[in-house]
Amino acid sequence: MIETNQEPTSPAEAVFRISNGMSAAAVVLAAARLRIADAVGDGSESVQDIATKLDADADALARMLRALAALGIFRQVDPATYAHTDMSSAMRSDHPGRLHDKLMTGGDWGWTMWGRLPQAVRTGECAFVKEYGTDFFSYLDANPDAQDMIYSGMTAWSDPMLPSIVDAIDLTGVRTFADMGGGKGALLHLLLQRNPQIEGLLFEDERMLRVVPDALRTSDPARRCRLVSGNFFEKVEHAADLYLFKLTLHMYDDERVVRALRNCAKAAAPGARIVIADPLLTDPPVTPFAPSMDLHMLLIMGGRERTESDYKAVFERAGLRFRGVTPTDSVLHLVEGEVVA
Ligand SMILES: C[S@@+](CC[C@H](N)C(=O)[O-])C[C@H]1O[C@@H](n2cnc3c(N)ncnc32)[C@H](O)[C@@H]1O
Repeated sequence: MIETNQEPTSPAEAVFRISNGMSAAAVVLAAARLRIADAVGDGSESVQDIATKLDADADALARMLRALAALGIFRQVDPATYAHTDMSSAMRSDHPGRLHDKLMTGGDWGWTMWGRLPQAVRTGECAFVKEYGTDFFSYLDANPDAQDMIYSGMTAWSDPMLPSIVDAIDLTGVRTFADMGGGKGALLHLLLQRNPQIEGLLFEDERMLRVVPDALRTSDPARRCRLVSGNFFEKVEHAADLYLFKLTLHMYDDERVVRALRNCAKAAAPGARIVIADPLLTDPPVTPFAPSMDLHMLLIMGGRERTESDYKAVFERAGLRFRGVTPTDSVLHLVEGEVVA
């Protein structure tokens, strides 16, 4: 834990404090896992009562609450009594900001994977397969709780970005829009709602299509939307004017990205566009988000985030014309290529 609120007095102390972020993250994620925020009412609550509700050890819980209060999460009324702060209230599982879902995303594998970073950097290989003996999606299939947690967490994080991403996509000349690996279709639903002239195609793995919500099957946009199961590394049969890959291709290495782009290009007419919506790496780096997501992708999937020149290279290897990068009002950038004759 950080010992003081004062500025670090040396570069060594600054680095040491960054490393202490591990224990702060552990305290916050464990609080979410234990649902402590749900067990504290609107007034002040005794540690003993909270421990009873959570079936937790009262002494260990008191120590945990003290550590949380030191971060501004809960307020210590007295050593045996705590009350909510705005930060702890935001952790309630019914809070509209869905912070609880976001904190639960990584489950147990998240911690395990970050612990394997030295090995992944030494070998350059995906750590997940080595650790669990199976790829990430198969692991999720076999662990429905982990699967629910990651999908709830991903949508809690991604849904608020959708309006800014849909706003940023250039839909000029688009009559058919394909969301490749579009998950449960939330982006496509919004895009079709806003653009009644456009027909949609949700291209997904068979298993994901089974859980597409009714809104994409029965609402007005549903009449303009086809659900197509397939594997974009094997074959894409449907022509579209724009293919979007959002938070999907960063899971894969360049070879596979080139294959997916080529397969779309084969199905499309010249002039069709392919847009990738992922974090953008910059050199030098400006914020920690994209570089840490890049390492996360290495650990979990053997994938990567990319710089603008990395994107240009994969688009050109796939035989497409690279059209450039557009920022959105979210942490994602849109990277665009065009199918040429
Ligand atoms: C991380 S999720 C992103 C979902 C959605 N695009 C979003 O931004 O919320 C990646 C999705 O791509 C799908 N996917 C991954 N590889 C695929 C493939 N080869 N063919 C079809 N779908 C694929 C997965 O089923 C998953 O739903």
